[in-house]
Amino acid sequence: MSRPTVVIGNWKMNMKIKETIDFITELSPMLSKTQGKVCLSVPSTLLKVASEAARGSEIEIGAQDVSQYESGAYTGEISTTMIQDSGGEFSLIGHSERRMYYHEDDEMIKEKVTRAILGGLVPVLCVGETQEQKESGQTEKVLLDQLEKALGFLNENEASAVIIAYEPVWAIGTGHAATPEIAQEVHGVIRGFVRKKWGEKNAFRTPILYGGSVSPDTIKELIKMPDIDGALVGGASLKVEAFAKIVNISRETKS
Ligand code: PGA
Repeated sequence: MSRPTVVIGNWKMNMKIKETIDFITELSPMLSKTQGKVCLSVPSTLLKVASEAARGSEIEIGAQDVSQYESGAYTGEISTTMIQDSGGEFSLIGHSERRMYYHEDDEMIKEKVTRAILGGLVPVLCVGETQEQKESGQTEKVLLDQLEKALGFLNENEASAVIIAYEPVWAIGTGHAATPEIAQEVHGVIRGFVRKKWGEKNAFRTPILYGGSVSPDTIKELIKMPDIDGALVGGASLKVEAFAKIVNISRETKS
């Protein structure tokens, strides 16, 4: 038996209320009946409307970031409880845009993972190297360091809730996805990390997604790789036809 695919659309700072309802209403009947998870990571203003539009469908809704604090005087932040109260079931954590533009460091990302797990929200941890790190041959070292710092303290049970997304920074929004071979090699390293820390069962179960210029074209070969279990999709998740194709290609290739 193989792992069910997981495809998450990351809308970033895009979409409004009506577009969200239309998108979800159109997406639902386009999805193939093959098994797999389909999720949308939406701006916090859209969590409630998206989860209402998705009610009764297989589409899961989540956030793009979560505070490391439970509640209190943290202007502009949203908590795990607030996300769940609005129907969200997961949150991206440590996306490279948050690391780069909002200076999220490893300690903060670790606290966010902890808070999400304590609050019963699925953490989707994003890791990835920059162009410079890739060119200087540091990919594996950078990734293992990010993984250890964000997840290393979890026990086997806690770790079994985590989804990991490999998003090479140099591939995000560039139109140039990693080659399937490069992505597979890194996914193998990530699965090896999970295996070493928490054993074979977790290594088998943990979904490891690829992100960075995923499109209906690039997904075809990427998803054939044994350790690529799905995708975290940015730009192409804003167009319902493209997103549905990515989900369906993933499901059909793995089934
Ligand atoms: P992209 O973004 O698909 O537009 O490259 C992916 C991401 O940042 O999650």
